[in-house]
Amino acid sequence: MSRLPPVTSDAAAPRDHVRAAVSAATPYPHATPPRRIGAVPAREDNPPVPIRHMDFGFDRQPLQRYFYDGNAFASAFYMAFSAVIPQGERFFIHSVRHYRDRINDPELDARVTGFIGQEAMHGKEHDAVNEAYEKMGFRLGLIDRNVREALKLLAKTLSKPAQLAFTVALEHYTAIISEFMLTHPEVRAKFEPTVGNFIFWHMMEETEHKAVAFDVYEKCVGSYALRAGVMIPTTVVLIAALANLQFYLLTNDKQRPRKGRWRDTLRGFAAIYGPRGLFGSVAPKLLDYFRPGFHPNDHDTRALLAEFREQFFGAQGELNEQLKKTVTPQARAAA
Ligand SMILES: [Fe+2]
Ligand SMILES: [Fe+2]
Repeated sequence: MSRLPPVTSDAAAPRDHVRAAVSAATPYPHATPPRRIGAVPAREDNPPVPIRHMDFGFDRQPLQRYFYDGNAFASAFYMAFSAVIPQGERFFIHSVRHYRDRINDPELDARVTGFIGQEAMHGKEHDAVNEAYEKMGFRLGLIDRNVREALKLLAKTLSKPAQLAFTVALEHYTAIISEFMLTHPEVRAKFEPTVGNFIFWHMMEETEHKAVAFDVYEKCVGSYALRAGVMIPTTVVLIAALANLQFYLLTNDKQRPRKGRWRDTLRGFAAIYGPRGLFGSVAPKLLDYFRPGFHPNDHDTRALLAEFREQFFGAQGELNEQLKKTVTPQARAAA
């Protein structure tokens, strides 16, 4: 694959410069020469994947009921997203861990350790925020149990390569959604600060490990047809499940104000499903996944990562108080 240019913008670069650098460095959508299937990109293309032990203290502070823009419709969407994450991420971990013995690449192995640690931390903090919202009357525990059963069934039904392809497809979704959110500060500004910081920390780490499951898939499975084929049902299931759970949360929310409900719905719908909303904005990058030579690093997010690492965990980092410990897995010399 073509080498990406070195990161030149520093962490303090204005966000517009980051966006410009990202689009300039990303010959999107089809200008990148096809990468040989099965080739794992060289080390310099991959950021380290540190495991950050975080504690956002969701059990120790009041949270806003409609934490996105005071909007019940959009908040229910993000709540549905949060409700499926703990079980979903555990499924991702299992599907990647299954191939661990076959990786035979110390650098990728270290990134797998980071991936597993990061996803485990995400699951732990999403459990905590879900519990806080459960106490406000949202039945997120019930959703969690149903998702666990559904994923158990999927694990019994799908082959191991298909399970990994499913994980890779969903990791692509989290990667492109994260890139969209991290490059749109106006979206972050609409979140209640505690929930927003938590979600954006998660999005930053999704960006850090976006290529790990993909690289394991390329090394251990490698089938383009399976990767591309699994993305189609994954998209249908993901959108149908989230919309269904969102509808469930909204219809069971007895405290949702009746006054202004249509306006709330229209505004929230535009923010999530509209052409300039979350899904509309990521659609072009979703299609890029179907290119035979596609690799997650084709969407260069290194400058973006540098910016958010500094903003969250630099000398004046906004999340240093929530950070309890960092462990960065190192590549061990091959035996
Ligand atoms: Fe995650
Ligand atoms: Fe992930």
